[in-house]
Amino acid sequence: ARAVPDVLSDAFTADPYSAYRVLRRDAPLLWHEGMHSYIISRYEDVKKAFKSDEFTTANYDWQLEPIHGRTLVQMSGREHAVRRALVAPAFRGRTLREQFLPVIEENARDLIDGFRTAGSADLVDEFATRFPINVIVDMLGLDKADHPRFHRWYTAMIAFLGNLTQDPDVAAAGIRTREELADYMLPVIRQRRDNLGDDLLSTLCTAEIDGTRMSDDDVKAFCSLLLAAGGETTDKALASTFANLLRHPDQLDDVRRDRSLIPRAFAETLRYTPPVHMIMRQPAQDVTVSGGTIPAGSTVTCLIGAANRDGNRYSDPDSFDIHRTELDTATAFTAAADHLAFALGRHFCVGALLAEAEVTVAINQLLDAMPDLRLADGADPVERGVFTRGPAELPVVFTPAA
Ligand code: HEM
Repeated sequence: ARAVPDVLSDAFTADPYSAYRVLRRDAPLLWHEGMHSYIISRYEDVKKAFKSDEFTTANYDWQLEPIHGRTLVQMSGREHAVRRALVAPAFRGRTLREQFLPVIEENARDLIDGFRTAGSADLVDEFATRFPINVIVDMLGLDKADHPRFHRWYTAMIAFLGNLTQDPDVAAAGIRTREELADYMLPVIRQRRDNLGDDLLSTLCTAEIDGTRMSDDDVKAFCSLLLAAGGETTDKALASTFANLLRHPDQLDDVRRDRSLIPRAFAETLRYTPPVHMIMRQPAQDVTVSGGTIPAGSTVTCLIGAANRDGNRYSDPDSFDIHRTELDTATAFTAAADHLAFALGRHFCVGALLAEAEVTVAINQLLDAMPDLRLADGADPVERGVFTRGPAELPVVFTPAA
């Protein structure tokens, strides 16, 4: 039998895309003893796991509960639908355009001002890991002076969530972060209930479920989820969009000339190098997938990065092409363009439009401030990670602003 790659091996982490090819072809439904999970990798199968009512969210509590408490991602049915409906409007439409777009623009400008005169920067460390967190802190109406503190908490949080080797120091730092965030947020939430504003925290504080307000702990858990769900994903999506464009200078030139291509560059990045590679689901009854049966109640790992490069869905799937016609089948908006990076169905990413706005503003401002932005000589931005992936660093050079 042909060797089937192990998704937790070092070889896989170094180049998952080659492994995905083998999995899609030879082992589209695979049991992984170590993960205690089935693994699926074909586009149609992953799409079905996200969209079909035969699947619900998996039991994520072991991973998310210790750091966030109970969040949307762990909920199903009515509990999920009601809470999601409370928060979703803040991330789209007029609220996004009129209230939060200025926040996004200001934060991009502040960060770029920090390095535009330097002539060189690491866009991961100096921009991508900071920008989405700063935006969320400001959307919540918290103190801008606390951006560095939130950046520290965010870093500890994502280290905790990605702690596959169960390093005890990383685990302890994560738990400490949960406590520090609670100590910070709970008094702010109590104060905000007495002094409502037009910020996202006020929206969360006044949201009612069946006539009952969310508890202080619920609001805190939601803020905590936003930092991780809206931070790490957008951080990696931003860095990957920059990296893909910098590695394809002809396509970067197209984007420089025609900025309306930015959402396409973002959508193609989400297809080609998605930030989230693995999402778990669980079938309520036995289901058939790629000719095999997944028993009710088992965990299924959906390989988004594999599904997004399925040759049965995309032509020439292993090349990055912002002009590919498959992007024209955009559903509600360009960034969502039919890839699976935001999942689909009931848990489809609440922040997808916010992410598109953030990436669009960031790329526009970077290209305005640094028209000759390019990769530093010899730089080879390598993607890292297992559950989530993105470049570890992105050294660029440019003519410094006067
Ligand atoms: C859900 C990806 C940006 C907030 C999800 C899910 C994925 C995803 C795959 C489904 C999780 C699951 O079903 O287990 C992404 C990507 C992003 C991004 C690739 C950036 C490019 C954001 C932003 C926010 C956000 C900016 C908000 C600040 C959420 C929330 C959920 C979610 C709250 C839970 C939705 C639910 O369970 O109903 N995201 N996300 N995301 N995302 Fe995003």
